[in-house]
Amino acid sequence: MAKLQLVLYPSDTLNQKTKKITRFDSATRRLAQDMLETMYANNGVGLAAPQVGVLKRMMVIDVSGEDEPRKPTVFINPEIIESSGEMTGNEGCLSFPGVFFEVRRRSRIVVKFQNLAGKEQKLAAADNLLCRAIQHELDHLEGQLFVDKAVSKLAAELELSKNGLLGETIDIAQTVKIPAGETELMFG
Ligand code: CO
Repeated sequence: MAKLQLVLYPSDTLNQKTKKITRFDSATRRLAQDMLETMYANNGVGLAAPQVGVLKRMMVIDVSGEDEPRKPTVFINPEIIESSGEMTGNEGCLSFPGVFFEVRRRSRIVVKFQNLAGKEQKLAAADNLLCRAIQHELDHLEGQLFVDKAVSKLAAELELSKNGLLGETIDIAQTVKIPAGETELMFG
């Protein structure tokens, strides 16, 4: 196993779509192992392949608590086949060190995926960290980032700014509408 280098925002790699995995061979197993090692080393609960520079449809998740035995799940070619409801909650991302803000997600999902043997699996999750993590990581496989699902775009922007990660995905001038004639607003 090897710990891999994390791809940090902003990077074009994080905006790319990923390719379906068709070979369930030792290279695929090694990628899963390396991604898990990288996730654990960085204290993450999930990691998607683009975050280690690999544009393939693989993600790993382990939402077990610190004092519990590890319970990793490897999702290959995952796809959400049912979803409903809505929930909001705080999220971070290993590609955005130090950045946390509220993100809107579906509250109930069913995900279909393949395991390392290529066998099809289904998993249902509702109103929990697993449900949130699956949606966050699956977005990475589509080249989408949690900044696009922030409950408050301004809060997300401030978090990015605070951590020196001000990207160009959100234009603050479009977020904060300054009324005409009030261009000298005082900010404390
Ligand atoms: Co992420």
